[in-house]
Amino acid sequence: MTTTATTSAPHTTTTEALEVTDGRNGKTYSLPIVDGTIRALDLKQIKVSENDFGMMAYDPAFMNTASCRSAITYIDGDAGILRYRGYPIEQLAEKASFLEVAWLLRHGELPTQSEYDQWVKDITYHTYVHENIKHFLEGFRYDAHPMSMLGSSIAALSSFYPEAKHIFDPAQREISIVRLLAKVPTLAALCYRHVKGLPFVYPDNDLPYAENFLSMIARMSEPKYAANRVFAKAIEVLFILHADHEQNCSTNAVRAVGSSHVDPFSAVAAGVMALYGPLHGGANEQVLRMIESIGSVKNVAAFIDEVKSGKGQRLMGFGHRVYKSYDPRARIVKQLAYEVFGVTGMDRDLEIALELERIALSDPYFIERKLYPNVDFYTGLIYRAMKFPTSYFTVLFAIPRVAGWLAQWEEMLLDKEQKIARPRQIYTGYDERQFAATLEHRRPAKGP
Ligand code: CMC
Repeated sequence: MTTTATTSAPHTTTTEALEVTDGRNGKTYSLPIVDGTIRALDLKQIKVSENDFGMMAYDPAFMNTASCRSAITYIDGDAGILRYRGYPIEQLAEKASFLEVAWLLRHGELPTQSEYDQWVKDITYHTYVHENIKHFLEGFRYDAHPMSMLGSSIAALSSFYPEAKHIFDPAQREISIVRLLAKVPTLAALCYRHVKGLPFVYPDNDLPYAENFLSMIARMSEPKYAANRVFAKAIEVLFILHADHEQNCSTNAVRAVGSSHVDPFSAVAAGVMALYGPLHGGANEQVLRMIESIGSVKNVAAFIDEVKSGKGQRLMGFGHRVYKSYDPRARIVKQLAYEVFGVTGMDRDLEIALELERIALSDPYFIERKLYPNVDFYTGLIYRAMKFPTSYFTVLFAIPRVAGWLAQWEEMLLDKEQKIARPRQIYTGYDERQFAATLEHRRPAKGP
């Protein structure tokens, strides 16, 4: 018997189908194939009895599950291709500005001159944060990790803009997006100054985005801060490279949290905390700590052996869930590193990084597993050359990723197929059992 699935994709008609025979009862089902996928919900009709919940797909860590349709970022992991809205990352890194890319990610097209001018003006106008945020940040200990501070302060911003919860009002979405893009660099710089024990520096709205950020980081007594041009360019390019990366861990967090219809400040704060993890954005910090612990080129081979034995740490900055070839961003970052070293002098540990890369790229362990340098491998060396503390590296990843998170958040909200994200589970715990009190203090006594 053949049953035709009742659900099918709304946009595309197709005659392709996956024929599935249930070995338990011999029934055959025809599941429509659209864009090379079947719908997990179509599996639900596969059941052995009326009371049966129906077949589910089990996919821990989303290894083979598309959670959305997205038109924002395209990655071909085998070919090492990354495009935002169709534009190759190499071209954007060379020719675009970060705020132009932020517009592109959100709107799908490059801005006209007047759209761009207004966009820059709006974002520049909103760079200041409420003074209470400064006091809030002062409450952190001197050694607080700047990612904890950044995530908390973005979450706190939500309380300053209660109207941001009107997420289906396009005007509210617009102002929230502008505010987040404008204020996150300010918050990030406040976190930096706190960690350093330096007085806070207010935004300088005469300066472009990257230069203003560097001014808030580095300005001391001078009335105007002029960032080194190579540093400003490096920050701009790194911001573009980090702006979006389709459905990675933190973007998935933003979409999942945003799917509850919470305000975007709260959803983006969730993204920051997901990015903090050492397997995600936190890897750039770990790469540098790893290189420092290796200490010398002569220790590299032994370190690689330890990684391969599985007993030591992973080779941080290597490997990627999607890229199975050289991460195209890593290539650009490596080139950029040399430009920065042209100003700062050669990094003392570059030799170790190059040797790690050389050995790993020729070692069967890494070749067989298709482990190549990812974006985090060389960024740490650039950040250190620019005198950012190691614990701050992931903040430099988070600032531009806000652009991608917001574009993805809005796409999710406007996608009629999306609902609150709520995965299923396979329950593996106890069947029902009876509670027998064994402790004496558990509950307050009943009665008036
Ligand atoms: N060093 C040594 N072995 C590795 C590494 C590594 N960096 N990455 C993966 N492997 C091995 C892993 O042990 C496994 O081997 P086996 O098949 O023998 O068990 C195999 O390669 C597949 O690994 P996996 O953990 O199943 O792969 P994944 O797709 O789940 O993990 C990853 C992707 C990025 C978490 C992982 O490669 C990793 O931990 N890399 C180091 C951390 C890092 O650099 N993260 C930054 C990622 S890029 C920027 C970002 O997303 O923020």
